[in-house]
Amino acid sequence: MSKIRLLTYDCALADLGVDVLLLPVFRSADDVAPWESLDAAVDGRIGEAIGSRAFTGKARACLAVPLSGGTGPGELILVGMGKQEKATAEVVREAIATAVSIAARRHGATVAVATREELGTAAEQVATATEATLLSQYRFDRYKKADEAETLITELHLVAGEGTTEAIARAETIATAVGWARDLINLSPSDKRPPEFADMVAAMATEAGLQCEVIDAARARELDLGALLAVARGSSSEPRLVVLEHTPTGTENDAPIALVGKGVTFDTGGISIKPAGSMDAMKSDMSGAAAVVATMRAIAGIDLPRRVVGLVPMAENMPDGDAYRPGDLVTATNGKVIEVLNTDAEGRMILADALAYGIREFEPTLIVDLATLTGACVVALGEDVAGVMSNDDELSAELVAAGERVAELVWPLPMFDTYDKLIESKVGDIKNSGGRWGGAITAAKFLENFVGDTPWAHLDIAGPAYRTKAFPLAPRGGVGFGVRLLVDWLSQSEEN
Ligand code: BES
Ligand code: MN
Ligand code: ZN
Repeated sequence: MSKIRLLTYDCALADLGVDVLLLPVFRSADDVAPWESLDAAVDGRIGEAIGSRAFTGKARACLAVPLSGGTGPGELILVGMGKQEKATAEVVREAIATAVSIAARRHGATVAVATREELGTAAEQVATATEATLLSQYRFDRYKKADEAETLITELHLVAGEGTTEAIARAETIATAVGWARDLINLSPSDKRPPEFADMVAAMATEAGLQCEVIDAARARELDLGALLAVARGSSSEPRLVVLEHTPTGTENDAPIALVGKGVTFDTGGISIKPAGSMDAMKSDMSGAAAVVATMRAIAGIDLPRRVVGLVPMAENMPDGDAYRPGDLVTATNGKVIEVLNTDAEGRMILADALAYGIREFEPTLIVDLATLTGACVVALGEDVAGVMSNDDELSAELVAAGERVAELVWPLPMFDTYDKLIESKVGDIKNSGGRWGGAITAAKFLENFVGDTPWAHLDIAGPAYRTKAFPLAPRGGVGFGVRLLVDWLSQSEEN
C-alpha cells in the first residue's frame, strides 16, 4: 500500500500551496458563498465555473479549474455533492474519492480538501476526507514492476480545527487496517497458505501490541478441533487457529466480545471440486479472517477501551488422496458429529470448531463471525449486500445499523425452525449441506449448533468481500468489507 502523508493547515484556502484543491459544491445554481474570499483571490473563477454549464453539481460530477499559479493551489476541482438534503456520509465519501482519483490522474501529487460547515464539524470532515482518500488511493502493486505503477497522490492537506488531529489519526488507523485486509485478500494464494498467513498475523500482533496465540495442527489435535483438521487433510499445508486478544488495562476480568473469521486460504472445493471458471477468486475465501485480523489491528491502534478476542481458523481446501471425503463423519470440538455431504461446504466446518472453541475458552458476551460462506447468499441479496443471521434480534439490528453508517450494507435473513430439518443427519448429528434451497440460511443453521446460548450473529460476506469491478472507494479485488462495520459497531457498543 502506498503511503500518503497527511498534513493539517491553518491558513486561508488561497494560500494552500498544493497541486489541487477540492471544493465540495452542492447542486444549486449558486453555491459560491462558502468560497467568497478564495473566489476574490482567483478573480472570480469559482463563481464563473459554478455558474457554467460544464458544472452540474450532481453527486460525484467534477470540474477542473486551472489557476494561474503563484503561491496558492495550482488547480481547483469543483466536486459535486448533489442536493444538500441528500448528501449522506456515503455520498460525500464517494464524491471526494472520485475527485481525489481525478486529481491523481491529472498528476496532482498534493491535494487539499476544503471544508464547509454544512457538511459537519471540521473533525468529521477531515476524517471523511482521510478515509475517502486512503481507501480510494489503495493499490495492490506487490507483483507489479515499479515502472508500471499508476500516479497516486502523495500528500493530503486538510484544514485544521477543533479535534482534527485525533480524527485524522483515527481515520488513518482504520483505513490502513482496511488496506491491510485488502492486501491479504489480494495476495497470491500460494503466498498465504495457513502457516504463512498465521505468521503474517502474528507479526502484526507484535507490532500492534495484541496478544497472539497460534494453535498448530498438533495442538489442534489435543484440542479435538476435528472439523478444522478434516478440512486441512487434503492440503500439504497444516491448518492454524490464530487467537488475538485486545485487553486494555483494567478489562482483564471482563468477558470479551469475540470475533471469528473464515480463513480458507484457497477453496478448490476439495473432492467436491469446483468448476475451473473463476476458481481464482477463491483466493478471497479468507476475507472473513482478513476482516477480523484487520479489525483487531484497528482497535489496538485506536485504543478501543473494550476487551475483544479474534479467532481465525485457517485451512486450505484441496483435493488429494488424503483429503476428507463426502460421507465422512467428523467430530467437532464440542462433540457433535458432522456428516460431510459436500467437501465444498468447508467454511462452516472450520467455523464450527472456532466458534465452539472460542465460547468454551473465553465465555464471550457476544460472538460475531464473518465468512464468505455461500453463493446462495449472493443469489439472495446480490453482490453489494452481506447477509446477517442471528439468534439475537438486538445484535442483528445493531450490525445492520453499523453497516448503514459506514455503507457496508447488511440485511437479515430469517432463522425459522423450519430450516433445521434440512440439516438433520441420520448417521451423525448434523449434515454439512442442506441442499439447494435456502443455502445461506441452512449454513447459518449449521453454525448455530456450535454457539449454544451465546448471543451470536453470522455475517455472510460472499457477495461484497471481493469485487471484479472498481468502486469509488475501492479498486477491483479485495474490499476489506467488515472492518469499518466492526470498528464502528464496537465503538458504539462501548458507549452503551
Ligand atoms: N467459499 C464458498 C462460497 C462462495 C461462493 C464465496 C462464491 C464467494 C463467492 C463456500 O465454501 C462454498 O463453496 N459454498 C458452497 C456451499 C454448498 C456446497 C453447500 C456454495 O455456496 O455452493
Ligand atoms: Mn467451499
Ligand atoms: Zn469456501
